[in-house]
Amino acid sequence: MRDWQRQLGLEAHPEGGYFQRIYTSPHTVPTPAGTRPTATSIHYLLTRDAPRGHLHRNRSDILHFLIDGGPVEYVMLTPDHAVERVTLQSGTRHFLMVPGGVWKASHLVGDAAQALVAEVVTPGFDFADHRFATPADVAGLPADLRLALAPFLPGTSHPPPD
Ligand code: GUN
Repeated sequence: MRDWQRQLGLEAHPEGGYFQRIYTSPHTVPTPAGTRPTATSIHYLLTRDAPRGHLHRNRSDILHFLIDGGPVEYVMLTPDHAVERVTLQSGTRHFLMVPGGVWKASHLVGDAAQALVAEVVTPGFDFADHRFATPADVAGLPADLRLALAPFLPGTSHPPPD
């Protein structure tokens, strides 16, 4: 198994997992929150010791491309309060676009050893556009949705269901 963390020089990401910025567009675009690069890109890695990306949202659209490993499941909460689950798996599905404003979490499925994903963020990533979920963000949801999202709240360490 490839040691992507070492090979790509990935660092711990505050969402969980590991990452490294691989592209920042030299072009900029005005957004309601300020000027941003038109796009940025990272490598993002989930491993057995960091198997989960915690629930967060961003103003920008985020394109995900599975490069190696998996399966990795994305759990999303749309603005109209629907939970959607998409699994990226080699040979089956390699691409997922998460629109800006959608809450997103991710985790390795089953006994998957790792998942290496490339993310393209457009307009480009800025922490000012990023927000981690808090218990208050899910408190008003129906019980089944709260249950689905609870394992992914930042600070949560129990494993999500496969
Ligand atoms: N998530 C998606 N893109 C980025 C990025 O460029 N930096 C950080 N820290 N997180 C990201």
